[in-house]
Amino acid sequence: MTDPAARLEAAERVRLANLPTPLDDAPRLAAHAGLARLLIKRDDTTGLAMGGNKARKLEYDLAGVTRKGYDVVVTIGGTQSNHAAMAAAAARRLGLDVKLVLGGPDFTRTQGNLLLDVLLGAEIRYLVDDDANDSLAAAMDAWVLELRRAGRRPLALPIGGSTGAGALGYVRAVRELAHQLGTGAVQIVTAVGSCGTFAGLNLGARLFLPQARIVGISISRTAREIATRTVELMREAAELIGADPGQGEDSLECTDDYVHEYGVATPAGLAAIRAAARLEGLLLDPVYTGKSMAGLLDLARRGVLDPAVPTVFLHTGGVPIVFAFEDAFRDQAVCTKITR
Ligand SMILES: Cc1ncc(COP(=O)(O)O)c(C=O)c1O
Repeated sequence: MTDPAARLEAAERVRLANLPTPLDDAPRLAAHAGLARLLIKRDDTTGLAMGGNKARKLEYDLAGVTRKGYDVVVTIGGTQSNHAAMAAAAARRLGLDVKLVLGGPDFTRTQGNLLLDVLLGAEIRYLVDDDANDSLAAAMDAWVLELRRAGRRPLALPIGGSTGAGALGYVRAVRELAHQLGTGAVQIVTAVGSCGTFAGLNLGARLFLPQARIVGISISRTAREIATRTVELMREAAELIGADPGQGEDSLECTDDYVHEYGVATPAGLAAIRAAARLEGLLLDPVYTGKSMAGLLDLARRGVLDPAVPTVFLHTGGVPIVFAFEDAFRDQAVCTKITR
């Protein structure tokens, strides 16, 4: 079998996400952005710990885990990691145990995704004041060894579940989008973190939506780091399905203009969250989708996005994070107290 589309279809996958996700018109947000048409690809509705982009990756990352005899999933992330909570939900759905190495500023309250981790019964090791990928990965490797010595069969997942196999989830997502959109030019905007989603979208566009322009908005890394990692993941994913990985770094479009301290809300991100909620009833989060929507609005304002070409905003999830940012929203409350 040489056809990449057929090989994608045949690649082993475990059903975890509610697919296809809706593609909704957002006419008032489009007018606010000065775009003729804005559509929201609702990957926040995939399910698994309240939804998000990780569900599509986990379908490939966890394919065949029980058949292969694994009994525990181990992974890493920041305190409010969407990936960690979604991997925990996926592990439980498949009947597996779950261990998480999380890191960041010490927490005083169990909120947002951390609360979901606890509800899902994940055992957590916490690196206080250290969420560097290398530190988290080293702690995970040590835990994996410990578990093996104790006779367990751990499966370790890297940060964000971003692997070549995981990226296939977004190759498949582009095929889904192509069915929903039909042919024609389109610009697809997404948040970029560990690069699996961006890699899958770029490879998927080559196969199923050649007229698509994929615009990445980096949340934490430089554009150069994103390009290097995305090309690696595209190569790995392409190899799995016998596809041409493409031209390399120069063919990718990802801006780091909107990078801000990771995990810290920005005024533009909060304004975008407010606009999406009030204009469309759409919930975004302060760490990823609020910032990527703020980036989309700014790219539209600066004319970097073509106002005449339909724009798709990939809603990558992250909504549970809002429940850890109560302080950022408190002043928006319109509430009259009535006392007797
Ligand atoms: C809500 C949300 N959006 C976007 C991203 C970025 O996706 P990726 O890590 O595949 O680049 C992540 C994860 O890092 C996320 O949790």
